[in-house]
Amino acid sequence: MVDALRRLEYRGYDSAGIATLEDGAITRRRAEGKLRNLESKLDREPLEGLIGIGHTRWATHGKPTEGNAHPHATSRVAVVHNGIIENFRELREELIAEGARFQSETDTEVVAHLVTRELDRGKTPIKAVHASLRRLRGAFSLGFLFSGEDNLLIGARLGSPLAVGYGEGEMFLGSDAIALAPFTNTIAYLDDGDSVALTRSSATIYDAAFKRVHRTIQKSQASATIVDKGNHRHFMAKEIHEQPEVVSHTLTSFIDVVGETIRLPEDLPFDWKDLNRLTISACGTASYASMIAKYWFERYARLPVEVDIASEFRYREAPLDKGGLSIFVSQSGETADTLAALRYCKEQGQHTLAVVNVPTSTIAREAEVMVRTLAGPEIGVASTKAFTCQLAALAGLAIGAGKARGTLSAAEERELVHALIEAPRLMAEALRLEHEIETFSRDLAKASDVLYLGRGTSYPLSLEGALKLKEISYIHAEGYAAGELKHGPIALIDETMPVVVIAPFDAIFEKTVSNMQEVAARGGRIILITDAKGAEAAAMATLKTIVLPEMPAVVTPIVYSVPIQLLAYHTAVIIGTDVDQPRNLAKSVTVE
Ligand code: F6R
Repeated sequence: MVDALRRLEYRGYDSAGIATLEDGAITRRRAEGKLRNLESKLDREPLEGLIGIGHTRWATHGKPTEGNAHPHATSRVAVVHNGIIENFRELREELIAEGARFQSETDTEVVAHLVTRELDRGKTPIKAVHASLRRLRGAFSLGFLFSGEDNLLIGARLGSPLAVGYGEGEMFLGSDAIALAPFTNTIAYLDDGDSVALTRSSATIYDAAFKRVHRTIQKSQASATIVDKGNHRHFMAKEIHEQPEVVSHTLTSFIDVVGETIRLPEDLPFDWKDLNRLTISACGTASYASMIAKYWFERYARLPVEVDIASEFRYREAPLDKGGLSIFVSQSGETADTLAALRYCKEQGQHTLAVVNVPTSTIAREAEVMVRTLAGPEIGVASTKAFTCQLAALAGLAIGAGKARGTLSAAEERELVHALIEAPRLMAEALRLEHEIETFSRDLAKASDVLYLGRGTSYPLSLEGALKLKEISYIHAEGYAAGELKHGPIALIDETMPVVVIAPFDAIFEKTVSNMQEVAARGGRIILITDAKGAEAAAMATLKTIVLPEMPAVVTPIVYSVPIQLLAYHTAVIIGTDVDQPRNLAKSVTVE
């Protein structure tokens, strides 16, 4: 099992633990720090047993101590958990009022107590898990072990992935096929909302309505390639669907979920209070994440920001203050232009901070400060999960900077952090609109040009939407600030031109509606991505709407990315292009 956990260490490694059944009773070994600490503990105090669960943790709720390490357990059930239980506070209070005794600061422990309460009420383990799942809010996956049940493991997923592995007279559960690769390559991926009861010889799967269902069993290539496509046709689809989980990982690497505060990297070589401005350089999708971050840094930290495309910045001989801060955003950490911009800024005496996904990359190594996005390997050439993880990290930095500069109060910080914590769940909800979005893609697939419009942070998102569509479907697309429409691009509008409008119902929504009306008056076909209030306010006969949940402004770019990506993905699939490796592109652009 330790071998399997090692394969999951990329998800977190601040503590680890295992629980098995010894003579029917739950027995645990847990250790703070890297997996090798657990391993030496197991050497000293081995665990017996033929059934068990294990976990490697990235602290979200509560410090990375042994007491907070998973599995969490009562005398009746042990649980491992990935993700966040959003409503843990109210559940914890309810359970404590009924006499439950908590031993950790984690959100996970409420699950152990909830299930125990249902077992005490006489329910079977699967019924107890189903009753408990009804009470949980958030994006997570769970694994359960029950005392006295040496032929039963239960798993459940809502937002975070979970895979069932089929062996010879043995069965496995893992949050990634990579973890199961040492044991089996025969895998069934659970759908969102599914739960599963495993015995040594069977897997009974239930859907979100707790009805029995079958999920396709397939051969995974995890052992050979470390990453596979899971249940998806393309890596891009898998990566779009992974977002609630990887964004949650990225967020919780710098958020104290209990205190609802931002934990910025310690020992920064600069003081946020001393900065007069910020320079951000990046390419492509990463530059659009940076443009969104500009709105955040200016609003929350009152820090003027200049965002540059790295290929322009590096040759523009920009004057920079000594001791100022430059930020570089890159998935690969190897993009030649971004690296050159970083080196230029260092020569100019700037402090440098890199937001990167590959921690061993050149940009990560050469920058003074590294902030990691925890998107995991991104294989699809079109960036999806790396983009939303960049947004999550940059939002955290902007809020942290605001707090440090005194431009955000503690209450404002809490409110913003609270909103960020909800992003993974909201993304999971957006993913549920996939079928509907796919039908809209049929329309886009027939077009030769598509316009994307948005205001505020939805403007850079419209640039990203257009880039996603053109790079994988080869349809020409442009993103525009909605207010710019009448300054030129409106000349393009006719009845053959789909226009994608990104407009959550906010203070500038009415302005965007006016722009939409201008499009509609010229026969343009509009797809509006908004929320229920926006859909109601904009009601026009010709409109197609994608309706997302209402949410605070700070998370809209993160959540609205999902329909934007799905629209591009399904359009490309309908057209039949090579979605994961579109022509002429490379994943890592190490040449100028
Ligand atoms: C588009 C895309 C590219 C990259 C750009 C920068 O989907 O992936 O535009 O964002 O090449 O790459 P990184 O982030 O590796 O520096």
